[in-house]
Amino acid sequence: MSAQHPTRTASARRYLMCRPTYFTVDYRINPWMDPAKPVDTALAVLQWERLHALHQSLGHTVELIEPIPGLPDMVYAANGATVHDGRVLGARLRHRERAAEGPAYEQWFRNAGHIVVKTAEHTNEGEGDYLVAGDRVLAGTGFRTEPAAHAEAQELFGVPVISLTLIDPRFYHLDTALAVLDDDEIMYYPGAFSPESRQVLRELFPDAIIADEADAWTFGLNAVSDGLHVILPQAATTLAAKLAARGFEPIGIDLSELLKGGGSVKCCTLEIRHRSSGSPR
Ligand code: ARG
Repeated sequence: MSAQHPTRTASARRYLMCRPTYFTVDYRINPWMDPAKPVDTALAVLQWERLHALHQSLGHTVELIEPIPGLPDMVYAANGATVHDGRVLGARLRHRERAAEGPAYEQWFRNAGHIVVKTAEHTNEGEGDYLVAGDRVLAGTGFRTEPAAHAEAQELFGVPVISLTLIDPRFYHLDTALAVLDDDEIMYYPGAFSPESRQVLRELFPDAIIADEADAWTFGLNAVSDGLHVILPQAATTLAAKLAARGFEPIGIDLSELLKGGGSVKCCTLEIRHRSSGSPR
């Protein structure tokens, strides 16, 4: 590959995370979860703390929401809401095991002083299925978030919401199959999408980094980028090399315990996108 790529610059972000104090796998709502397999909660906490410290060491602000006993998946903060330009769309999670998480996150945003907070009418799993890419939102459906929720998001955020259909149950959330690297740059695994959605992605992002099945299988696409640094699971070495070739700085991290719940770096990180200055709203 040629070394033709823009100079990468990091910008400071604000994230919301939830310590996995009560993390375990005692139900199965995605193919990665196996309640028969032991989970080391203390190790999960340690690995999560490394991610938390890493975000901070890169200059980002990390807010914390208090974990609630009985909600083991609450550590996957990305599913708690979607925030674009200071507007918060609450999550409405599909499975009853996780249903109480949506209101808990919504309350956190209200307590933190966010003014525009919308309780969702349709099932949506927050940033698990909504990924902000510059002035548009990429939106997953097929397993969790309903198509009607995409229209709801578009009406709240006032930017185009691009619906993408997921077809492989291993990649049940958009953030397991696609990561936004910069406003107009993404990486994704085509096999996770319907042929028509693949066509849409090719059209919108002709220069995207294409991940292969092995990259996706290591959860490499569940990554968080600040425009320069891309934090991703450390097993995703081939994907890390592809990122480096494009001028990004990949940083691998081990979140093996949280992978047992079907999540990794991005799932644990909700981005709070504040109102852009000069915004007419
Ligand atoms: N066990 C959780 C579920 O299946 C994992 C959620 C992972 N989060 C994410 N943003 N992909 O709902």
